[in-house]
Amino acid sequence: MLKPMQIGLIGFGTVGSGTYQLLKRNQHQIQRRLGRALHISMVADLDVAKVKAVVDADCKVVSDAQDIISNPDIDVVIELIGGYGFALEVVSKAIEAGKHVVTANKALLATHGETIFESARQQQCMVGFESSVAGGIPIIKVVREGLAANQIEWIAGIINGTTNFILTQMHEKSWTFAQALEQAQSLGYAEADPTFDIEGIDAAHKCSLLAAIAYGIPIPFSHAYVEGITQLQSKDMQFAAQLGYRIKLLGIAKRTDTGVEVRVHPCLISERSLIANVEGAMNAVMVHSDALGTSMYYGKGAGGEPTASAVIADLIDIARMASTDVANRIPHLAFQAQSIESPAILDIEQVTTCNYLRIAVADQSGVLASITSILAEHSISVDAMLQQPADSTSKQTELIILTHEAKEGVMNQAIAKIQTLSTVLMPVVRIRKEDFN
Ligand code: HSE
Repeated sequence: MLKPMQIGLIGFGTVGSGTYQLLKRNQHQIQRRLGRALHISMVADLDVAKVKAVVDADCKVVSDAQDIISNPDIDVVIELIGGYGFALEVVSKAIEAGKHVVTANKALLATHGETIFESARQQQCMVGFESSVAGGIPIIKVVREGLAANQIEWIAGIINGTTNFILTQMHEKSWTFAQALEQAQSLGYAEADPTFDIEGIDAAHKCSLLAAIAYGIPIPFSHAYVEGITQLQSKDMQFAAQLGYRIKLLGIAKRTDTGVEVRVHPCLISERSLIANVEGAMNAVMVHSDALGTSMYYGKGAGGEPTASAVIADLIDIARMASTDVANRIPHLAFQAQSIESPAILDIEQVTTCNYLRIAVADQSGVLASITSILAEHSISVDAMLQQPADSTSKQTELIILTHEAKEGVMNQAIAKIQTLSTVLMPVVRIRKEDFN
C-alpha cells in the first residue's frame, strides 16, 4: 500500500476543525476507497492551544503557516484562512514549494485564480476548490467532469445560504430586510460584516468560478453584474406570491449567441419550480446542458462538515491524480489551458429578461394607459398585472406589471420615461424574472 499522503492544514476554524474530525471519523472508509491513508500531520493556527485540545498527538500544531509550507514531508496544503491577503501569500508560496493545494476560498480564486492556476500548472501542482462553491454540493465535479460530454447552456443557482435564509424569512414572516438580517446574524448565518453576502459579492465569486468551468473562459468576476438584496421589500415578495412567483437571489451564467452572461441579482421564479422551494440557508444549482437537459443539485452550502466533505473529496482526487501523467490530469478550470476562449462577457444592458415592475401611482384615470403606452412604444409586452385597491385617503395605489422578455437597456429607457410621468409618485421598483425555458 502507498504511504499515507501528508497534509498540512492552515486555518482551524469551523471548516478546518470539521475537516480534521471528518477525516478522523471516516478514515477507514476513505482508505477502503483510496487504497491509501490521508494524514493531517500538521495544523497551523494562531490559537495553538485551541488546536492542541482537539487534534491527536501525532499532529504537529504550529502558529506559523510557513512551517508547513517549508516542510518537505508535506504533500498537500489545505488553505482555510479566507480573504485575499495572507491566503494569497500562503497559496502562492505553497505552490512555489511544489505542494498541491486545497482551498475553500472563492474570493481568492475569483480574484486571483488565473495567476494561481497558471503557477500551479507550471509547478505541476493541483489546486482543488470543490468546497469554494456551494459548500458540500459537489457542483464543481458535476460541471467539470460529470457533464463533460455536454454543452452547458446555462447555470442558475442559489449559492449564498445567508441571503436565501434572509429572503425565506422575509417571505414567510413578512419581515423587513433589516429584521431578517438581524435574525441571520443572531443565528450565526451572517457574518458581523455581512457585506459580501447581502451585496451579492460572495455569490458572484462562486458564479464566476462556475462560468469559467462551464464555458472554458477566464474567470469573469471583474465583468460580472452584481446586485444584492438590500433594497428588497417584503411587500414585493407578497405581490410576487400573488402572481405565483418567489423572489430568490440567483447567480446566473448563460451562453448566448453574442457572449456569456454572468450576473447575480434578485429574481422572480415560478413558485412551481424546484429551485423556488429551496428554503432557509440551503443551496441549489440548476444546470441546463444540451444532452442531459435540466438537472439540479441541492444541499448545504456552508458549515463545518458539509464543507469538509468537499475538502476531503479534493484530497482524495489529488491523492489519486498525484501519480498520474500530468498531461492527463483534470484541468483546474475544466478545459485545457490552450483551449481557453475569451467570448464577450455581456454588459447587463445587453441581457434579456422578463421583469416585475412595481409602480406607485396617483389613482387617476389614464394613468395605467400612459404607462402601458410607454411600454408599447418600447415594444415591451405585458404578461400579467395586479392593481391594489386605492388608499381612500391618499388616492394612491400600486401597479404591479410583469413584462415579457425585453433587453435590459430598452427596459431601462422605458422605466426612465415612466418615471417622468407626474402621476408616478415613487421610484419604480424593478426585479428581473427568469422562466428557465
Ligand atoms: N457566506 C456563505 C453563504 C457561505 O452564506 O452561503 C460561504 O460561502
